[in-house]
Amino acid sequence: MLKQREQFTSRLGFVLAAAGSAVGLGNIWGFPTNTANGGGAAFVLIYLVLAFTLAYPALMAELTIGRHTRANIVTALQGLSPRPGVRLTGRLVGSYGILVASLILCFYSLVAGWMAANLASSGAALAGLDRPAAWLARDGVPRNLLFAGLFSLITAGVVSEGVKHGIERWSSRLMPTLVALLVALIGYVLTRDGAIAGLTVYLLPDFARISSTLVISALGQAFFSLSLGVGTMLVYGSYIREGDSLPATGAIVTLVDIGVAFLAGLLIIPAMFAGRELGVEIYANGQLQAGPDLIFRVLPALFDSMGPLGNGVATAFFALMTIAALTSSISMLEVPVALATETTSLNRKTAAWLVGGIIFAGTATIAVFFDPLFGAVVTLTTEFSQPLLGIALCLFAGWAFNRNALLEEIRAGNPGAQKTLFWKVWPTYVRYFCPLLIATVFVQAIFL
Ligand code: TRP
Repeated sequence: MLKQREQFTSRLGFVLAAAGSAVGLGNIWGFPTNTANGGGAAFVLIYLVLAFTLAYPALMAELTIGRHTRANIVTALQGLSPRPGVRLTGRLVGSYGILVASLILCFYSLVAGWMAANLASSGAALAGLDRPAAWLARDGVPRNLLFAGLFSLITAGVVSEGVKHGIERWSSRLMPTLVALLVALIGYVLTRDGAIAGLTVYLLPDFARISSTLVISALGQAFFSLSLGVGTMLVYGSYIREGDSLPATGAIVTLVDIGVAFLAGLLIIPAMFAGRELGVEIYANGQLQAGPDLIFRVLPALFDSMGPLGNGVATAFFALMTIAALTSSISMLEVPVALATETTSLNRKTAAWLVGGIIFAGTATIAVFFDPLFGAVVTLTTEFSQPLLGIALCLFAGWAFNRNALLEEIRAGNPGAQKTLFWKVWPTYVRYFCPLLIATVFVQAIFL
């Protein structure tokens, strides 16, 4: 009674879904501020090098394992090799990936809820409802629970519809909208006074700022941005059709992710400097504001100072953030939901609502006990667990995967594969260099 496993309907469908996963708050919020504080184009350069030398190979490890095993991360890693030790390790690593994906979603939904609340606030202001608008813009536990809850409901709703009718359909609608909003906002912001000063800070390299901490933050940024380590890309890879070439498809997703991050920099940094022109304080302790203050104080102050147009611009901006977060959160929820549907008798609908509910309980806990929990969960998941899991996944692709099967998988949908550089370099690279390099950066980050 094996059910037919769902697949993306086309390569474009996969690219939009995977790019939807990759493009998120990490791109629009994290990347621009990391760049501005990390020496502008010098950071961008390091980021590009790391994205292609470490993140892309790790992405390929997930995509090949996923498509080869056609399963969630636990079943996939466990099934790569018949050796009992490898099976057990696969099970443990996979389960840890599921846990980390779920924990990331816990805090991510909360942040997405802030965006959705601000979207509602600027929408209300646009409609002239000033009092609700003010309440919605003010940080508070009831507001956060309400909007994180709404956001979680939408996320679970999309995932419950399945790969084609939920994930692919919504990614295909939302990703073009996101790019259109982003481009329109950039066009508007660049006409504001002061914006060009922002462009210089963003784009002129300051090589004096390069340091090992900078390299580490660029690596973390790259792994977070490409959704690596926790089985998101693995499970999306498991829905790619046999006829699509993996190396090329993975490269497109990487390029789109980097491209959107770069574009977001053209919006955020000039917007901050346009705000400074109007008297908004954009530096804190000599660094450009980067945390929640940037999104919820600096930018809103800018929108406020824009006059009647401000509410419209704010609405577009928070819609952009909410959309970016939604296509990412559905990819995170898919990780545990795929496990639940493939290893228990639950159907997709029940699994999506049940797992979504459990994760929302985690989100609510973080919302209520914000100070002790939020930073700790972010650090534990993104700084410690993601790189370690990234190493493990490269080792699985490099060592547990039978070499012939691995090569077959790369060749599927890619008949000329043997002649490519990828074919010659990647299998060895992912075996030795990638894990070693990630480990080196990681050890430096933690111990030095
Ligand atoms: N990549 C997304 C962003 O940039 C977030 C994301 C989605 C993610 N799935 C993930 C991060 C899995 C880590 C792991 O915002």
